[in-house]
Amino acid sequence: MYSKIAGTGSYLPEKILTNRDLEGFMETSDAWIRERTGIERRHVAAEGQGTVDLAEPAARRAIEAAGLAPRDIDLIVFATCTPDYVFPNAGTLLQQRLGCPGGAAFSVEAACSGFIYALSIADKFVRAGEAKHALVVGAEVLSRVTDWSDRGTAILFADGAGAVVLNASAQPGVLSTHLHADGSHRELLFCPGGPGARSGLPAAPAPGFIHMEGREVFKIAVMELGRVVDEALAANRLDRSALDWLVPHQANLRIIQGAARKLDLPMERVIVTVQDHGNTSAASVPLALDAGVRDGRIKRGELLLLEAFGAGFTWGAALVRY
Ligand code: UT7
Repeated sequence: MYSKIAGTGSYLPEKILTNRDLEGFMETSDAWIRERTGIERRHVAAEGQGTVDLAEPAARRAIEAAGLAPRDIDLIVFATCTPDYVFPNAGTLLQQRLGCPGGAAFSVEAACSGFIYALSIADKFVRAGEAKHALVVGAEVLSRVTDWSDRGTAILFADGAGAVVLNASAQPGVLSTHLHADGSHRELLFCPGGPGARSGLPAAPAPGFIHMEGREVFKIAVMELGRVVDEALAANRLDRSALDWLVPHQANLRIIQGAARKLDLPMERVIVTVQDHGNTSAASVPLALDAGVRDGRIKRGELLLLEAFGAGFTWGAALVRY
């Protein structure tokens, strides 16, 4: 028994902030942002629009693309680090919106690797025969935890949602997933101020806002992503030449180019959306996947490598026969 991607969907809030817009209220430039990150614009949630508001249309599109109805969904795994509520979890909030009660629904917090973690978990439920139609979602409103006076992070992070439906299948779909974490680098990328915080946790930056040592994160991301893609290929006894598409976490074009170089893949075989979306954390991989599927580049039967790296640190990869 395998899990196979039956449908994909995504949703971006209407409001767009361009690099030029950012120039208006922080010391930065369109040229710097493009050169150092590849980002040109990003979407930002409207006042009153929350994570589940973004997730719902993405989920509905994925369910429709799979040829299913919401009532068919028997598992929801929802990756986010910007949930609307402390509890109930975002999975159950989405389940209520979709009207598909009964199956398990929960959220996963692994920052930018959240979708790869969620996909890995859902794959195991399906392979074990505990779910037939699993909805895997990544959705974020990072604009709410962005310090808009910090040019090191405000130019990067943005809002959006992506989703896939995994069906139980006798044909290979998700071939393998590879998850890792190293909690010793907490201070390089964190967002303090959870409700469980006790005195003694770092006071700066202000609770509720992202802090990132970008250069250090960059170096470790490139190194670990290089390792995990090798691990995924070796586990399947596949050579990098077997890959049709790299669908990477959209954090920085330079990190994506580094991963492509390591895999000897021309950039034409890499799905890049960072110019339009910025870094949407757990939403970034399913947003890129949906873009590649809907514009017809990614075709049935092709071999995809999904990868992501984020706070924790957490990182991971998935090899998928689409
Ligand atoms: O998704 C989770 C994982 N996160 C990531 O993967 C992010 C990884 N890191 C990055 O993408 C990059 O490190 C950044 C895009 C955040 C920063 O790029 P960088 O090339 O590492 O720049 P830097 O931090 O080394 O800064 C270089 C210079 C500095 O000036 P000086 O000290 O050389 O005079 C910064 O002050 O660029 C300056 N700078 C800026 N200038 C204009 C930093 N941010 C900006 C800015 N606009 N927004």
